[in-house]
Amino acid sequence: MNPTLLRARSVVKGYGKAGLHVEVLHGVAIDLRAGELALLMGPSGSGKTTLVSICAGMMRADAGTVEVCGREITGLPDPEVAKVRRRHLGFVFQDASLFPALTALDNVAEVVRMKTGVRMAAARLQATRMLDSMRMGHRLRHRPDELSGGERQRVAIARALAGDPDLLMGDEVTAALDGHSARLVMELVRGVVEPRRGVLLVTHDRRLEAFADRVIRLEDGRVVGDDPGGWTGTMGDGTAAGHGSAAQAALHDRRGVARGDAGGGK
Ligand SMILES: Nc1ncnc2c1ncn2[C@@H]1O[C@H](COP(=O)(O)OP(=O)(O)OP(=O)(O)O)[C@@H](O)[C@H]1O
Ligand SMILES: [Mg+2]
Repeated sequence: MNPTLLRARSVVKGYGKAGLHVEVLHGVAIDLRAGELALLMGPSGSGKTTLVSICAGMMRADAGTVEVCGREITGLPDPEVAKVRRRHLGFVFQDASLFPALTALDNVAEVVRMKTGVRMAAARLQATRMLDSMRMGHRLRHRPDELSGGERQRVAIARALAGDPDLLMGDEVTAALDGHSARLVMELVRGVVEPRRGVLLVTHDRRLEAFADRVIRLEDGRVVGDDPGGWTGTMGDGTAAGHGSAAQAALHDRRGVARGDAGGGK
């Protein structure tokens, strides 16, 4: 069985000071294994963003434990949590959150450089391959305000894959996209799932269920379901994802480059 990438237990979280304190997660447990694409779904306000932010080490739980790739992060000091994030996690936000002044290429290259320690020229080479694999090779020199919403998300995914993370997480990655762009983004995300990598996406978007191995349902801060998704191993047009996709090729290629230039960056 593939290794567990994420293991959260008894996670409790509330907001607000004493008196106005509201508990929004009431002891949540979730797991994600390598090789899986799981969705975290549920009504607005059910606690999805809060839970995924805690699992990604961007927010502290009030109680409970979160293990990322076997490392318990809830008790770690901030710099140690940041190290675990850099080493194991990539995150994509709803609005892409790109650096506005940088080109698509440098948005990705800066993060490659930061995460792997390679020089800028090598980082740009890796970033170009990642953007090619996200079908963004024709927009390398464009800045975020010169890209469409779907294009920005594809840059954000390429950036989240910098450093070759084990776990890719996203919050409402397709929410602002039309059907065509959402499908392309999901095909590309599906293509980065591999035996050692998993994906966890928060979404309201039922179109994504077709790409998922599992659908975890959250209601009122509790997990109320964990069901199989609709993924059958092909893209619907008969194209297989996973091994052999352009994203896979770029990632594997990039590992070679990172090893050669960074002296064991990761
Ligand atoms: N910073 C905050 N301070 C106070 N309450 C908050 C804060 N952030 C979230 N909440 C509350 O916590 C609850 C869960 O919020 P969360 O953002 O996790 O929900 P969600 O499931 O992601 O919703 P949506 O689908 O609308 O994005 C909501 O009731 C929200 O009002
Ligand atoms: Mg949310």
